[in-house]
Amino acid sequence: MLYDSNPTLEGIKSIDEASQGSVFFKENAELGRSPGLKHFYIESYGCQMNFSDSEIVASILGDIGYAPTRNMEESDLILVNTCSIREKAEETVRKRLKVFDVVKSKRPGTKVGILGCMAERLKKKWLEEEKLVDLVVGPDAYRDLPNLIGAAEEGGRMVNVLLSREETYADISPVRLESNGVTAFISIMRGCDNMCSFCVVPFTRGRERSRDPFSIVAEATDLFQKGFREVTLLGQNVDSYKWENPETGEPTDFADLLAMTAHIDPNLRVRFSTSHPKDMTDKVLHTMATHENICKYIHLPVQSGNSRILEMMNRTYDREWYMNRMESIRRILPEAAVSSDIITGFCSETEEEHQDTLSIVEWAEYSMSYMFAYSERPGTLAARKYPDDIPEDVKKRRLNEVIRLQTAMALKHNKRDIGKTFKVLIERDSSKSADDFCGRNSQNKMCVFPKQPGLKPGDYVEVKIHDASSATLLGKIA
Ligand code: 5AD
Ligand code: SF4
Repeated sequence: MLYDSNPTLEGIKSIDEASQGSVFFKENAELGRSPGLKHFYIESYGCQMNFSDSEIVASILGDIGYAPTRNMEESDLILVNTCSIREKAEETVRKRLKVFDVVKSKRPGTKVGILGCMAERLKKKWLEEEKLVDLVVGPDAYRDLPNLIGAAEEGGRMVNVLLSREETYADISPVRLESNGVTAFISIMRGCDNMCSFCVVPFTRGRERSRDPFSIVAEATDLFQKGFREVTLLGQNVDSYKWENPETGEPTDFADLLAMTAHIDPNLRVRFSTSHPKDMTDKVLHTMATHENICKYIHLPVQSGNSRILEMMNRTYDREWYMNRMESIRRILPEAAVSSDIITGFCSETEEEHQDTLSIVEWAEYSMSYMFAYSERPGTLAARKYPDDIPEDVKKRRLNEVIRLQTAMALKHNKRDIGKTFKVLIERDSSKSADDFCGRNSQNKMCVFPKQPGLKPGDYVEVKIHDASSATLLGKIA
């Protein structure tokens, strides 16, 4: 979901639910079948965590002789890594399953599996009632895939949706799929303990647990040695990362982990997502200020600008607390960009309360936001406690108002960068022209600039900005 215009899972960048999802393949991998190997085809939906999980799945499958393919018609195993965050995401997956069913009917023996967040909720329906899939595997059960696939090959319909309190897949080296060879994601924790009332994640991904920091640093070091120059540390709420050394009892918090990762090499950039306003500490901000290679960008979802709605959302902060956190960022990291997630039309939201959301978007001057109309999710606190009483057309109208304002604020933010020079990490060719490169500055803004001989993805360049849209900065190598 790499990822300019796409929504997020609490800020973890994701593909738009309306889009086709993403087909994973190994760069330079053969597109056809390799002799002696079985092949899997995988599509991922939802947040970056799901994309990261698909790379863990690819590693587990590699160990049992499965190679990735882009061609579902030639695959022995079709997997879809699913998202439950909004209803539309679920509908998209449902449509894809019908397509896979047609492929399966032409190629008997191919197995179809559902992975990830929809597994628990829809296992019965898809496996037993509609018989659309052969495997249903929840986000904590990927180590069981070899057994489940083996049993499915024998004709069984297999399910493992057990959630775990310990699983972090710390020892599994992800197989990088769809990689640009420059930027990579590293999961540092799993699950979420926050229970925001609108959110299904605590139910689909289970309790929060943090991964051993040494395995995280080892993974980042390995990526750096392979030529990668940027890692994004992923968690639903990175600020609550917490690990205790079982031998010494010494604790590691998120600020410590950031510093450990930043020390690997000054040329390895470190990003992270997502921060929670209730937990983001000044210690993290000071650590960011100390290390040039920790990017000056924070995704700090506000969700609503109104304190009554925030309380109903169970966000455990109010408007003033959020503004105070933003002021700390401005004080400690004056050059940082901040982005947000926003929900419109949450249960009982009045027009005045919606105006509070608009006013905080204006006040915060987000460089970017992921914006959504509220979608009731079965089993969540909000679904149990509050009627979903804002009509769809009102939710959409409010959403459009927020989008219009945010687009104007992003343009204003970007126009302020005209004339400045930024250090940019070259990621790839620009999608619009092979004569241009694109890459991000520390503030996570995509910069596009003409190529110069001798430069390649993975190199850092100084780019002077001469023009800006709401989504992109245009510049020249200085
Ligand atoms: N309806 C609308 N948006 C939601 N999000 C999470 N749950 C819902 C829901 N039920 C949004 C939040 C979150 C982002 C990943 O998705 O803004 O931060
Ligand atoms: Fe994010 Fe809250 Fe959902 Fe946790 S419960 S994933 S913090 S929105």
